[in-house]
Amino acid sequence: MTGRDHTKVHEAHHIHARQAPQHFYNSQPGPAYVHDMETYKKMYKESIENPEEFFGKMGRDFLHWDRPFTKVQSGSLENGDVAWFLNGELNASYNCVDRHAFANPDKPALIYEADDEADNKIITFGELLREVSKVAGVLKSWGVKKGDTVAVYLPMIPSTVIAMLAIARLGAVHSVIFAGFSSGSMKDRIVDAGCKVLITCDEGRRGGKTIHTKKIVDEGLNGVDSVSHILVFQRTGTEGIPMKAGRDFWWHEETAKQRGYFPPVSCNAEDPLFLLYTSGSTGSPKGVVHSTGGYLLGAALTTRYVFDIHPEDVLFTAGDVGWITGHTYALYGPLALGTTSIIFESTPAYPDYGRYWRIIQRHKATHFYVAPTALRLIKRVGEQEISKYDISSLRVLGSVGEPISPELWEWYHKTIGNENCVICDTMWQTESGSHLIAPLAGAVPTKPGSASVPFFGVNAAIIDPVTGVELPENDVEGVLAVKSPWPSMARSIWNNHAHYINTYMKPYPGYYFTGDGAGRDHDGYYWIRGRVDDVVNVSGHRLSTAEIEASLGNNEAVSEAAVIGIADELTGQAVIAFVSLKNSAHPANPLEGESTADELHRELILQVRGEIGPFASPKCIIIVKDLPKTRSGKIMRRVLRKIASNEADQLGDLSTLANADIVPSLIDAVNVQFLEKLKKK
Ligand code: WTA
Repeated sequence: MTGRDHTKVHEAHHIHARQAPQHFYNSQPGPAYVHDMETYKKMYKESIENPEEFFGKMGRDFLHWDRPFTKVQSGSLENGDVAWFLNGELNASYNCVDRHAFANPDKPALIYEADDEADNKIITFGELLREVSKVAGVLKSWGVKKGDTVAVYLPMIPSTVIAMLAIARLGAVHSVIFAGFSSGSMKDRIVDAGCKVLITCDEGRRGGKTIHTKKIVDEGLNGVDSVSHILVFQRTGTEGIPMKAGRDFWWHEETAKQRGYFPPVSCNAEDPLFLLYTSGSTGSPKGVVHSTGGYLLGAALTTRYVFDIHPEDVLFTAGDVGWITGHTYALYGPLALGTTSIIFESTPAYPDYGRYWRIIQRHKATHFYVAPTALRLIKRVGEQEISKYDISSLRVLGSVGEPISPELWEWYHKTIGNENCVICDTMWQTESGSHLIAPLAGAVPTKPGSASVPFFGVNAAIIDPVTGVELPENDVEGVLAVKSPWPSMARSIWNNHAHYINTYMKPYPGYYFTGDGAGRDHDGYYWIRGRVDDVVNVSGHRLSTAEIEASLGNNEAVSEAAVIGIADELTGQAVIAFVSLKNSAHPANPLEGESTADELHRELILQVRGEIGPFASPKCIIIVKDLPKTRSGKIMRRVLRKIASNEADQLGDLSTLANADIVPSLIDAVNVQFLEKLKKK
């Protein structure tokens, strides 16, 4: 074990698995691919005991190989050298587009639900093949080849999917940067990945507002010479978008020069398909590397079996393709199966709270997949809209990104599902590529608040974080780990394999460490408790406290910053920042009784919004004299978490604090600058 403290989660979660609600639901109508628990158990057992045979067959059944693999799996978690489908060759774009375009050219591949519903559009598999081919042709003409990284900075529109598939068609590696990231964050990711080409758009539209995408790109790339070509999709067509001669090219002009078919390039199963940056315990984001064969199989298998997707189903994944949920369940999973996927550009509130339900009614969506944070919002403000629409086409309701409380689960089941849908609470991560713990719709009975059971091949384990020993029985609490390789697991961190090993493989040797606390109840069901590292989860967005701290520290008034996550009714967790100032007599220091503190608050919030992105902005910044520290100078975030959660009466043992005398002033600052303001709202 490393010196990390993974026990923190237990402070916040007093509920033991045994005390949680324990009733089962199973209400999937009609026959499912896996139709009962016994079959799940049998298949699961085989996937763990005989992965060669199980995944060998699945790999052949679900994917088209240009050259068959000769061995199913090699390498180990301990060595961090896992490989699947050795010597096999395939192309992800061929698997997601061509084979369906040949069989069903007129079947809708993508249903575009635009910000303004008047712009909605359907793209068939036949059209998708032509569009993907043309963009691949453009990239090829710019010299993009197998193994090159290409950045994509686009909103949730079909062009994003087309761009990603075009990159994959060449065997190049896409790195999608969520369009909500600031210019600085975008630049860091482009530089780290060494992208020479970027695909973006003129402007974005979200909730009726315009986002000046190309302007953000130009700001970010100011002084970055490594990007030689930018392909700009015309999303709004606003006049006067600055285009740099020789570097910036319009998508519609360049694709018009290309032919409607471009042959896919065969890739080794282990060639990287994409990078996706995510936040960890350390300051800078890390490029998680996913493989072509294993990732694609994981995406296809979980989409088929967890969601029980049948050929005519319509999947509405409401997450953005800038995050892993969009990669796996808006693009690769459904398209690998030839399933229609809804691409939603807007927000649940635009133009009104009926938006989700109109989408489902209009396209007869059978599957709806969303983060609990959106459900909390709807439950609070948009519930009355639901009954206006016919959403009876729904069969499976998914939840992802953060724990779903049993109450919200029941609400989802009753109000959206009409007690007639399966709720699939799916626990997974950017690094896992596809679902780790999730019920198979129609087979695995569900319990409100539990993500239920491990997916095929996921050899889940609960480890005692204190002793580092696995707890093999049921009715246990600890951290969640996986003890054998699964096909879609991340293979590396871009340019930093040592970090990959240290983060995931070193904490508990022989296991992959998820970073989450979890319990396993007496039925063998898993209950996810939340992160045990310095990652917070705000509205399903994964944020690094260290990254936010670094951004605050860039302000010249700031001496030190400590960022924590506390429970929040609407967003799941909220970011609270504690900041001490260099000059305690700073005019903005509220501790000096001055009211200009608001200005500094605003400045610091703007700093985080500008340097990382609006979604990372702290809910509150609390200015304090000093931060609580141990004798060795380590900030005791536990103390800050307790105080900010209004649990100052449960601070526990403070004997390791070097400056325990500041605690009353911390409590005061939290009361004045946060809790009292909260009450007034
Ligand atoms: C959390 C999102 C509870 C978890 C797919 C994980 C969840 C992190 C669930 C990964 C769930 C995801 N229940 N917690 N169903 N799903 N998480 O990389 O803490 O953005 O480690 O991937 O989200 O976030 P990421």
